[in-house]
Amino acid sequence: MKVVTEIGEYRKLRKGMPSPVGFVPTMGYLHQGHLALVQQARAENKTVVVSIFVNPTQFGPKDDLAAYPRDPERDLALLEKEGTDIVFMPSAEEMYPEGFSSWVEVDKVTDRLEGAFRPGHFRGVATIVAKLFNSVQPHRAYFGQKDAQQLIVIKKMVSDLNMDLEVVAVPTVRDPDGLAMSSRNTYLDPEERKAALVLWNALSLAQELWSKGERNAERLRQEMSALIQKEPRAKIDYVSVADPDSLEELSQIEGTALVSMAVRIGKTRLIDNITLG
Ligand code: PAJ
Repeated sequence: MKVVTEIGEYRKLRKGMPSPVGFVPTMGYLHQGHLALVQQARAENKTVVVSIFVNPTQFGPKDDLAAYPRDPERDLALLEKEGTDIVFMPSAEEMYPEGFSSWVEVDKVTDRLEGAFRPGHFRGVATIVAKLFNSVQPHRAYFGQKDAQQLIVIKKMVSDLNMDLEVVAVPTVRDPDGLAMSSRNTYLDPEERKAALVLWNALSLAQELWSKGERNAERLRQEMSALIQKEPRAKIDYVSVADPDSLEELSQIEGTALVSMAVRIGKTRLIDNITLG
């Protein structure tokens, strides 16, 4: 496994890489969710490249960029075990040199859900992912269903800007009790960790009601919200039952629906989702 910090150095290596090249972009502090993406990339490609970069431009002024958890040594050991070929770990100066002034903005699907609560977030995500794609030059890139809206935004960017690669979606990896794995879970104290299960319980309730034939989206939103509100440590940002392509809120579920939510547990903001149908 080679660790590369500069784009110029990477480009030299890229010339000799066996194809296809599979790429997993991350912000590090890796857990089994990230590793599932690496494993799938390993199974489907000749070369596996993973990036670790805590991207400052996708954090808002109230998000604590400095407090984002980091453990590069542990990350590298985990990636080595998974058979990663190259780890791209650029500095902030490498990705955003002084005078940087070009941005990628994906309209419409970024207006809702996470986009509405985190202004500028997806502009930062789309810009860094476009830069990483241009730097790494992968044939395939792997993203988690856990960040469902991010996946939609990246797919739209790739299609709209004619980027020559395939975006692969990987199912959400959960702890045994159902909590979706996230680097942010480390912020939760033991009481909050228990309270955080309310997200999975609400999604499970939606799944159960849907299985019994409920197709009224507002009813699902109400039932999930009522369940979450019973947990005193939980504060809802949104509970959504939306069209999985446009992300517009549904009134009636006809085909598939993306059920998603953002809930604050103490100071930690958690997101999760499932797809119905
Ligand atoms: P990060 O939060 O580190 O996540 C990296 C990738 O891992 C994303 O595609 C995310 O959806 C996936 N992932 C996280 N938790 C997961 C889980 N429990 N199961 C399956 N996949 C999971 O997402 C980002 O970084 C950044 O926005 C990035 C795309 C790297 C751009 O900076």
